[in-house]
Amino acid sequence: MTVIVEPDHARAERLAASLVPQPAVVATLAALHDHLAHHLGEDVVVLGPSVDLADALTLSAQMRLARPSLGVIVVRSSLDTSLLVDALRHGVRDVVADGETTALRDAVRRAGQLAHEIRCRSTGTPDAAERGVVITVFSTKGGCGKTTLACNLAACLADGGGADVCLVDLDLHFGDVAVVLRLLPARTLADAVPHAIDLDDAGVESLLTRHSPGLFAVPAPMDPMAAETVDADVVARVLRLLARRFRYVVVDTPPAFTDHVLTAFDQSDLVALVATLDVPAIKSLRHTLDTLEALRFPRNRLRVLLNRADSKVGLDVSHIEETLGLPIAAHIPSSRDVPASVNRGVPLMLDDPNHPVSRAIGEFAATHVLPLGRDANPRIPAALRADRRRLIPLRRRRP
Ligand SMILES: Nc1ncnc2c1ncn2[C@@H]1O[C@H](COP(=O)(O)OP(=O)(O)O)[C@@H](O)[C@H]1O
Ligand SMILES: [Mg+2]
Repeated sequence: MTVIVEPDHARAERLAASLVPQPAVVATLAALHDHLAHHLGEDVVVLGPSVDLADALTLSAQMRLARPSLGVIVVRSSLDTSLLVDALRHGVRDVVADGETTALRDAVRRAGQLAHEIRCRSTGTPDAAERGVVITVFSTKGGCGKTTLACNLAACLADGGGADVCLVDLDLHFGDVAVVLRLLPARTLADAVPHAIDLDDAGVESLLTRHSPGLFAVPAPMDPMAAETVDADVVARVLRLLARRFRYVVVDTPPAFTDHVLTAFDQSDLVALVATLDVPAIKSLRHTLDTLEALRFPRNRLRVLLNRADSKVGLDVSHIEETLGLPIAAHIPSSRDVPASVNRGVPLMLDDPNHPVSRAIGEFAATHVLPLGRDANPRIPAALRADRRRLIPLRRRRP
């Protein structure tokens, strides 16, 4: 998409009218910076004739580093050779004479195509302007299995490299994604802080720690003091960039409605609410649902997952569903293989995709997450493929 910068209202309207689809219009360069920070899909900036030339060239030079795919086009009342040379030196993609509608349209089209190519090359995804699916795993209770589910869900979606998945640890003070996946991260979320405003694709790439094919993580800061420096704006920006780079972004959370968690909710296509089969857990989930309702979070994006759902504790699932007003989307059994897998540092999903815990998470992914992805025909996670493999010989055995 295109954004026009032009302080003169009538000129701005004239420029906007010459472009299809309708571009965004801002009056100042400060407003442009703000606009770009919130609209990561913008790929062309048209600087109108009333924008100071020196400012226009400075912006172009800045963007060459901060957002290399962004094409800057400068519109001037008159063109001369020295202007063109100067523009070229500052990385301006095109200079167009004011009033030359067709030339402007062509320049915008070319800049848009180039932006697309640059992005494809830098991120490896077919169309980086599209967003991946963001799933936040949440509960206000600690110890109910958020981290376990987030790690295994991420591993399931990555499917041995079938899709790029990033796990983000927003439990800034006590996060243990790095421990559960036995990672030795060179960078954490705290490293995004100094570059927060101009964090770009390359910057966010440098935060990643690779676990296994397709599975990456942005771990929580190692040092609690560093955690204090990560504000919600940083989280918002990191998540936005990750959602462009990854097919799926899975967010693990602390057991509280922190600003960071609310920021993650804002960007989530799905919130997986985790509960266990005990009255305090169900009660706290009921409170969470009320809070999310008050925040006007769309109810159709909520899924309830029951962890350790096979415990015989005298709670009736249909009664729980009635209390919550939502169906249970997944029943994940309890197994001592889960803590054992944590101690080994390999998610159960990777070690044993056919394990009942892996299969329950795989089924949740296939039913509730994959349909939201960009793929019309998503790959079936290994946890379910294993299940299908078991079914085929059975059918063959039939007379
Ligand atoms: N389905 C399960 N079966 C057995 N143990 C589990 C299961 N899910 C989680 N656990 C264990 O419960 C503990 C807490 O889980 P964790 O994922 O860290 O919770 P949270 O992130 O919500 O605090 C861990 O020791 C984990 O191994
Ligand atoms: Mg946790």
